[in-house]
Amino acid sequence: PIPVVLDVDTGVDDALALMLAVRHPALDVRAVTCVAGNASLEQVVDNTLAVLELSGAGPVPVAAGMSTPLVEPARSAGHVHGGNGLADLARPAHGRRVEPVHAVELLRATLEATSEAVTLIALAPLTNIAVLLRMYPRLAERIAGITMMGGAIFVGNATPSAEFNVWHDPEAAEIVLGCGLPVTMYGLEPFRRVTCDADDIARLRAAGDPLRRTAGDLLAHLDGVTGEDASGGRVVGIGDAGAVCAVIDPEGVTRRRAPVSVSLAPGITRGRTVVDLRTSTDTARPAEEPDGPVEVVTDVDGARYRRLFLEALA
Ligand code: BDR
Ligand code: CA
Repeated sequence: PIPVVLDVDTGVDDALALMLAVRHPALDVRAVTCVAGNASLEQVVDNTLAVLELSGAGPVPVAAGMSTPLVEPARSAGHVHGGNGLADLARPAHGRRVEPVHAVELLRATLEATSEAVTLIALAPLTNIAVLLRMYPRLAERIAGITMMGGAIFVGNATPSAEFNVWHDPEAAEIVLGCGLPVTMYGLEPFRRVTCDADDIARLRAAGDPLRRTAGDLLAHLDGVTGEDASGGRVVGIGDAGAVCAVIDPEGVTRRRAPVSVSLAPGITRGRTVVDLRTSTDTARPAEEPDGPVEVVTDVDGARYRRLFLEALA
């Protein structure tokens, strides 16, 4: 299995992503690090521990990281994820404890503990990852790559220009996108295109096991927020869980190597990811300009990832 660390802001769709990562045999979840984003850091930690319990995870270490973005104050997304960040569902009781170290130290220890390079799956504002890269640049060689849910080629969600995770901490996103490691940007376009329909959700909610029932309740909560169906049908996006699918089954997405920069200026464009999709025939783009190691997901096989997700939970 691929050794991975998930960096999360659980978060309704982060919960779905954690369930998938824990349940799927292709991944070996070495640690989970928490950051403020969809909910406060404290809620993110509580939600993450509860979801790991529900998913039947082994003793995966969990640590709390940055409680605010690098520059700006944290901003809540309670209107999307519910007051407790988990659709206001009751969290199951469990005896799991958060590690007594900062998330960046847990990342360091996890990277140092293995000779294999580890894949980071970043599903939240990129504050923890940016601080890791700044504090321990020598550890970059132990990172196989970073798959991040964040950014958008076209329209944003937090603002007309910006996707939430990048908008929440644009400076951190700029550090990660420019760090020189292979980064896969799984942005809002694929994010919205991997969906479940009403029948899938009804089946999950009627299931005997609490994991699938909770997944169904979480998807029902997201109804109307994340899904996009070309034919106009009512669907719900699995969101961040799609970025986990892209690590498990990389053939399910179409990627394009392209330079990506983050707009850091104050105002309406702050947090926008500017993806340079110009070709070398475009006179304005110098032909010798290298593309760099960032790959942007431009398309996704939604049916394939929907199946992957539902089968892993079954
Ligand atoms: C991102 O923000 C959150 O709402 C989701 O968990 C996802 O990581 C989408 O913009
Ligand atoms: Ca998230």
